[in-house]
Amino acid sequence: MRMFDLIEKKKQNLVLTDAEIQYIIAGYMSGEIEDYQMSAFLMACWFHKLTGEECFALTRAMATSGDMMDLREVAGLKADKHSTGGVGDKITLILLPIMASLGIKMAKSSGKGLGYTGGTIDKLQSIGGLEVQLSRQQFIDILNEAGMVISSQSANIAPADKKIYALRDVTALVDDSALIASSIMSKKLASGADMIVLDVKCGNGAFMKEFDAAKSLAQLMVQIGKDAKKQTVAVITDMNVPLGRAVGNAIEIKEALSCLKGNMPSDIKEVVFALGIQILLMGRKAENANEAAKMMTEEVESLRAYNRFCTFVAMQGGDVSQLEDTSRLPKSAIEKHIFAQESGYVSVCDCGLVGKAALAAGAGREKKESDIDYGAGIYLEKTYGDAVQKGKSLAVVYASTEAKAEEAATLLQKSFQISKQEPPKRKMIKEILN
Ligand code: URA
Repeated sequence: MRMFDLIEKKKQNLVLTDAEIQYIIAGYMSGEIEDYQMSAFLMACWFHKLTGEECFALTRAMATSGDMMDLREVAGLKADKHSTGGVGDKITLILLPIMASLGIKMAKSSGKGLGYTGGTIDKLQSIGGLEVQLSRQQFIDILNEAGMVISSQSANIAPADKKIYALRDVTALVDDSALIASSIMSKKLASGADMIVLDVKCGNGAFMKEFDAAKSLAQLMVQIGKDAKKQTVAVITDMNVPLGRAVGNAIEIKEALSCLKGNMPSDIKEVVFALGIQILLMGRKAENANEAAKMMTEEVESLRAYNRFCTFVAMQGGDVSQLEDTSRLPKSAIEKHIFAQESGYVSVCDCGLVGKAALAAGAGREKKESDIDYGAGIYLEKTYGDAVQKGKSLAVVYASTEAKAEEAATLLQKSFQISKQEPPKRKMIKEILN
């Protein structure tokens, strides 16, 4: 086989075989295939699109390019949850302890956040001492005992995806559904879980702005999961407004804890329950959605899910006293409010702009190597649909310097629009695909 011929084949819109795709990935990893050849090949894939079979072959080849986690030592059903990334997205921190408390083992490896979509790992690292770089044995032990584990992605999970993603990033090739689906699912297949639940975000704060694009990504990922004989479900959820009230790191931990104590804003609750119900149905823990929802409510009301989160934090070395007394979590010194310029209802709380404001405050990373300020963030005192009064506070920015707070506040002010009429209720769950 020659890479030249395979590029030519895809350029002519012909379908590559499994063996040809494996050859490409193996050759790229060994260095025999150069970046410029891979770029040309990926560009041909962008223009002609991969078939379902090609997409699965690429996913499997990337998944098996590194370690495949073997979770057979862990008793019971193992599930993995993935979100395509949003603003204020703390769903993992709430959903995992509820599921763990109901006997589903939740095994999650996560990347760091980049741009304005925050990463779960960064949020967790705002808790003093919490370790996310875990050995395989630590990962298994914590999963067995706490019922949930969240680690940073090991360097050897789907390394071909890492190398290809870096190339796509600099050659304008990120925005292709099949390439995105195979990239995400290669890491999920390597993670060793029996069940995969995907939260595919859709809206102006998400990767996929349009519903049709989100749906096509969801369909591709569910099909890959099925082809790999993993139970897979995708829930398409709204991401036009930040989830809940807090956007940042420590501030989102605080909100997640409050949710686990039963104070769940309705948007967070809808997403947590939609995903949890699917996991419980896949795992045959509940007969139907009503029963699953009741089980979840009981875990929250009894504080069993909250206690489960504390156990997980303790097992990963985190300072549990910061969970009991959240004033001990990091909080940046400068507080800057923005105020309503008229009375009415919040008709827009633009997710993309709120995300950018959080980034400006210091809560996110502009580049992979940028530092994060765990205490920086935004608290939305008002959000979509809330009634507001002229001159009253809409939101507060936390930042380490006046300049950062000012820049964030300017963006935040632009993210709000006030209307005289109450806006329609948002539909959080757009579609469930399985
Ligand atoms: N996230 C991934 O892991 N891969 C992509 O291609 C896009 C988003």
